[in-house]
Amino acid sequence: MSSLDGKTCVVTGATSGIGEETALGLAKLGARIVLIGRDPERAKHSVERVRSESGNDRVESLLGDFASQQDIRRLAADILEACPRLDVLVNNAGIITLKRQTTEDGFEAMFGVNHLGYFTLTNLLLDRLKQSAPARIVNVASNAHRFGSLDIDDLQSEKSFGSMKSYGRSKSANILFTVELARRLEGTHVTVNCLHPGAVATRLGHNNGTLGRAVTKIISVFMLTPARGALTSIHLASSAAVEGVSGRYFAKCREQKPTSTASDPAVAARLWQASHQLTGIGA
Ligand SMILES: NC(=O)c1ccc[n+]([C@@H]2O[C@H](COP(=O)([O-])OP(=O)(O)OC[C@H]3O[C@@H](n4cnc5c(N)ncnc54)[C@H](OP(=O)(O)O)[C@@H]3O)[C@@H](O)[C@H]2O)c1
Repeated sequence: MSSLDGKTCVVTGATSGIGEETALGLAKLGARIVLIGRDPERAKHSVERVRSESGNDRVESLLGDFASQQDIRRLAADILEACPRLDVLVNNAGIITLKRQTTEDGFEAMFGVNHLGYFTLTNLLLDRLKQSAPARIVNVASNAHRFGSLDIDDLQSEKSFGSMKSYGRSKSANILFTVELARRLEGTHVTVNCLHPGAVATRLGHNNGTLGRAVTKIISVFMLTPARGALTSIHLASSAAVEGVSGRYFAKCREQKPTSTASDPAVAARLWQASHQLTGIGA
């Protein structure tokens, strides 16, 4: 990995699991880290942990809730104020729900947080990333995109909801967002890539009551540690090996092929338009 001395990295969902370990890995490489969390106590705890385990004092946090478009806008303004330069944005915050839930704005929760959260925050930070170029955007997607190809006519899973199917759709959306954003960023020296972190033992799914916690606890023994799960995110954020590479999907630090529907440029362009109409961002 290359040194990130003098660089500023923003990592969302950095109060747990893969995001916290990504922040720690990037802090160890010398970057200034802005962890994004939604809970002040958890954010404080993560900042303390990353500072003490990395020996890097330039670690701080900002708060924002990706289930609220208004709060994402406020968060973006806070980031722009705190970060005169922005070299790396890791979009990582994500959820899985067993039942269909909606965000403050009425979006199906996984589509709203996992996709529109990435979409709105990134677009609001794009000019700062371009001014700081070469810069990188890393979108944490998932191999679970194979369980749910995006239905552009049912983005909110109103006609058909399934926990894994709708989660998979949101992760397909992460890949399609990466494809279209890479096209739009051509020539700017800002790259964007996405990844599958592996099957990682984290708190993902713990919001789904006793059953959700019990299932994730049982299968966690077969899973990667969060530190292992963060390796591909850290690789894409910092390695010279992927300099100039954009619009690709990675797992185990290697480029992989996502499904053809999750990487179809025509679908990616339609998703962008739909996301723009829903959020008013990204014209
Ligand atoms: N674990 C896996 O096996 C796996 C596999 C493939 C992909 N992924 C992806 O990896 C990413 C990280 O997940 P993880 O496994 O590390 O899960 P995790 O331990 O549950 O961490 C999720 C992070 O997202 C934050 N978050 C959730 N909803 C939020 C909201 N509305 N606003 C702001 N922050 C919010 C959480 O904040 P709190 O700390 O406040 O809850 C936490 O920091 C996700 O995008 C997930 O889809 C995970």
